[in-house]
Amino acid sequence: MAGMVDIHNHVLPQVDDGADSLETSLEMLRRGLQEGIEAAVLTPHFKPEDDREKAELHQQRFAQLQEAVAGAGMPIQLFLGAEVGFRFGLAEVARWPAIPLAGSPYVLVDLPFGPLPSGLEQGMFELRTAGFRPILGHPERHRQLTQDERQLERLREQELLFQLDAGSLTGRFGQRTQEAARLLAQRGWAEFVASDGHNLEKRPFTLQAARQWVEEGLGAEEAQLLFADNPWRLVRGESIACREGQARRARRRPPPRRQGGWLSRLLGAWN
Ligand SMILES: [Fe+2]
Repeated sequence: MAGMVDIHNHVLPQVDDGADSLETSLEMLRRGLQEGIEAAVLTPHFKPEDDREKAELHQQRFAQLQEAVAGAGMPIQLFLGAEVGFRFGLAEVARWPAIPLAGSPYVLVDLPFGPLPSGLEQGMFELRTAGFRPILGHPERHRQLTQDERQLERLREQELLFQLDAGSLTGRFGQRTQEAARLLAQRGWAEFVASDGHNLEKRPFTLQAARQWVEEGLGAEEAQLLFADNPWRLVRGESIACREGQARRARRRPPPRRQGGWLSRLLGAWN
């Protein structure tokens, strides 16, 4: 059975609000290894205002970290990518080095908190047309998105892949986010769970507790898919199916008139 691959974390040192030193990066990776992680795609924030030079800095830091990991004899495979803030011209930025995940066609996209950006669907369409496969990072943490069931369905129909944060499933971001993450997972609207680890304390590089919930709630096969099989397909550049057929079936079902949709109905309790 293949081990886990973490496809979203901030282990790369001194480039964002993640690891503050090389030592912290190494300790985060050590803990990841203890949990059964065999590989990681490092995804520092790449903000809308960042330029190509920032991507080159990521490459330099990545080379330093890889050297340190090899020197420490740590049996972990590392790949580089980025968590790209949604911006104009996303398809152009995705062509820069160190932006796609592990050099694959997959691009991890982060939405700004607050109102959904205008041009969201168009931006994702352009990315796909340019040959990339967008993955939306932690949709469960975006309040406005989780309140807009139609928008979620439209994004799934565009075959946008969803990545849930492990901490969302275990309640680190509060009950409302936890409910949203669990509903998305139960609905089959997630292809990956990742740590989104930032440091050793508040946002650790851990997956095991979330995996346990998925195993108990959705079965060992689903856990293997979300934590290992799909992430390995990603780093190999292989195709990953979006279970958007379920979204289509959901769309064909008329929503109950009085109560609204499944997600908004449940999340309505938290608003
Ligand atoms: Fe992140």
